[in-house]
Amino acid sequence: MDRTPNRTSAGTAAGQKSIAWWREAHRLQLALCDDLESIADSLPSNIVNQDCLFAAKCLSRLMRDVHAFEEQTLFPALRQVFHASAEFSGAVDRLTFEHLADECYADDIAEKLLYVGAGGRDVNMEALGYMLRGFFEALRRHIAFERDHFSSAVETLQTAAEWRAPPAPK
Ligand SMILES: [Fe+2]
Repeated sequence: MDRTPNRTSAGTAAGQKSIAWWREAHRLQLALCDDLESIADSLPSNIVNQDCLFAAKCLSRLMRDVHAFEEQTLFPALRQVFHASAEFSGAVDRLTFEHLADECYADDIAEKLLYVGAGGRDVNMEALGYMLRGFFEALRRHIAFERDHFSSAVETLQTAAEWRAPPAPK
C-alpha cells in the first residue's frame, strides 16, 4: 500500500503548524516590545506596577521558548535545505548569538521590573529606561532580520519532512 500521500499530508500539516507557531512567536515578541516601550515611556513618575509585573513574568519565558524552537527546530530544518550557503550559515550563527545575549539581557530586565512592579522606586530610572530601549530596539531589529532573510526559506519547508510539531507558544 502506497502511504506517500499520507506522509506528505502529515508533513504539510506539521510544516504549516510550525510556520504558524513562528509567526505567532514574532507577534508575541513584538507585542512585548510595545509593552516594554510603554514602560520605558512611563519612567520615572507614571509607572504602572501591574504592567511591570506582567512584562517581567512574560519576558524570560517567552524568549527562552521562542529561542528553543528556532534553535532546535527551525534552524536545523533550514540548515538541511540551505547547507551549502555560507551566507545562510552566517546568518544563523549571528541570530543564535543574539539569542544568547537577549536571554541574559531579558533576565536582568525581568529582575528589575519585578522590583519596580513590587513598588521599588530606589532604582536608577534613567539606566532602566536605557536598558529597556536597548532591549526592545534590538529585538525588533532581530525579528525584522529573521522575517527579511528567512520568511521565504521557511515557506519552502511547508512540505518538508524535517519539521516536527512544536509546542504552542505561551
Ligand atoms: Fe530569533
